[in-house]
Amino acid sequence: NKPVTTYDIRKKKEANVPITMMTAYDYPSAKLVEEAGVDMILVGDSLGMVVLGYDSTIPVTMEDMVHHTKAVTRAAKRALVVTDLPFLSYHGTMEEAVKNAGRLMQEGGAKAVKLEGGRELAPLIERCVQAGIPVVGHIGLTPQSVHQLGGYKVQGRDLAAAQRLLEDALSLQAAGAFAVVLECVPEEVTGMIAKKLEIPVIGIGAGVACDGQVLVFHDVVGYASQLTPKFVKRYADIGETIREAVSSYVKEVEARSFPAAEHVFHASEDTIKQLYG
Ligand code: KIV
Ligand code: NA
Repeated sequence: NKPVTTYDIRKKKEANVPITMMTAYDYPSAKLVEEAGVDMILVGDSLGMVVLGYDSTIPVTMEDMVHHTKAVTRAAKRALVVTDLPFLSYHGTMEEAVKNAGRLMQEGGAKAVKLEGGRELAPLIERCVQAGIPVVGHIGLTPQSVHQLGGYKVQGRDLAAAQRLLEDALSLQAAGAFAVVLECVPEEVTGMIAKKLEIPVIGIGAGVACDGQVLVFHDVVGYASQLTPKFVKRYADIGETIREAVSSYVKEVEARSFPAAEHVFHASEDTIKQLYG
């Protein structure tokens, strides 16, 4: 049960063994996800939507990411924890960006960071890697740019766009990223990129032709997640289980059938006598 390292992740691609990644945002979700055996836990800025109730990832702050990463790393002892740099936390000065990436590791306990964007991020990735901060890239549909992209849409559909994605992926690799997430990309484009890269390509909505998969925890278990894009597979409906449990509780409290005898403490006979005379 030794901790998964960035080296192990790269080796998995060489050995042609699929890499498993899932998001988690707090202690219980991280504990369950780790116990289920994932290689990597992503503290995604999707937490803005699935945990904090925002309608995009844009309002998420560095403080949010540090806070939630701390909770996740208290539970995750084996899985490699990667945390997203949130909106605008890596677009100021180089110093500020490296410092923010470092905080996710130093304060949060993450083992790596993820950032959204292509070749324009190569200098920053180089600086992070020089500083000992492992980096995962993220291209294709990049939700922090949803207003730039004009919605949550499939990326890299035509030849020129597919070639741009490949060039971005290659420059992330050259800058020292140890893996790259490809989101919402046609499977044929993913397959071509995964073949040309030495580092693992982790897909979400990118088909089976990559080196691993990542999904959002709340989508997978059906935990009050509204969004169900085509690429999500819901493996359970935990939301329904929770709703049933809580509504049974409400009914039993209203009927005074909870708490029952087995849930109740009692005072001694003596005390009772004196209390009630
Ligand atoms: O924030 C997130 O959950 C992500 C994954 C969808 C890759 O970035
Ligand atoms: Na994200």
